[in-house]
Amino acid sequence: MDTVITLQELRAARAKLPPLVGLVPTMGYLHEGHLSLARAARRECASVVASIFVNPTQFGPKEDLASYPRDLPRDLRLLEAEGVDLVWVPTPEVMYPVGYQTWVTVDDVSRPLEGAMRPGHFRGVATVVAILFNAVQPDRAYFGQKDAQQAAVIRQMVRDLNFKLDIVVCPIVREGDGLAMSSRNVYLNTAERQAATVLFRALTAAQSAYQAGERDAGELRQTMEVTISAEPLARQQYVSCADPETLQELEGAIPDRALLSMAVYVGSTRLIDNLILGD
Ligand code: PAJ
Repeated sequence: MDTVITLQELRAARAKLPPLVGLVPTMGYLHEGHLSLARAARRECASVVASIFVNPTQFGPKEDLASYPRDLPRDLRLLEAEGVDLVWVPTPEVMYPVGYQTWVTVDDVSRPLEGAMRPGHFRGVATVVAILFNAVQPDRAYFGQKDAQQAAVIRQMVRDLNFKLDIVVCPIVREGDGLAMSSRNVYLNTAERQAATVLFRALTAAQSAYQAGERDAGELRQTMEVTISAEPLARQQYVSCADPETLQELEGAIPDRALLSMAVYVGSTRLIDNLILGD
């Protein structure tokens, strides 16, 4: 496995890779969710490139950029074990050299939910992903359904800017008790880790209501809210029942498919999770 830092090194190593080339963008501190993307890329592509970059431009001023967990030696061991061919670990100066001033803004789909709670977040995500796509020139790029709105924003950007690649979205990988894997789960203490199962419990409560015939978007949101409010260590930021492509909130009877999603503080840790109804 090759590990490179600069754009020049990346281009030289990329030129030697046989197509199809799959890209797995990450911010590191890898877990089974990330590794499931690397495995899917390994199955489907001749060459697999992963990137590890804690992208400062997608963090708000009061967010956890400085404390975001990092363990590069471990990440490189894990990627090597998955048969990844090339890892790009750029520095902030490689990605955003002095004088950098170009931003990618995806309008409507970036606005609700995570976009409303984290102003500028998707501008940072879309910009860094565009930089990654242009540098690596992958044939496919792999993202997780864990960040459902991020996947929708990137799909929209790829359509609008005519990036010549396929976006593959892989299912959410969960712990045994349902908690969606996340690099941020390490922030949870023992009691909070227990309480953090409330996100999946709320999603499955709404899914059970759906399976029992409930189709009203407001009732489904209410079911999630009731579950979250019963957990003393949890505080809901938002719950949503929205169109899976546009992320627009649904009212009244839901159509074929709907995306249930939420952001919940467990102690001071902000967690997100989601589930698609009608798949
Ligand atoms: P990061 O949070 O490191 O996640 C990298 C990829 O792993 C994302 O596509 C995310 O959706 C996926 N992922 C995370 N947890 C997952 C889980 N439990 N199951 C399945 N997939 C999971 O998302 C980012 O980094 C950044 O925003 C990035 C796209 C790299 C741009 O900076």
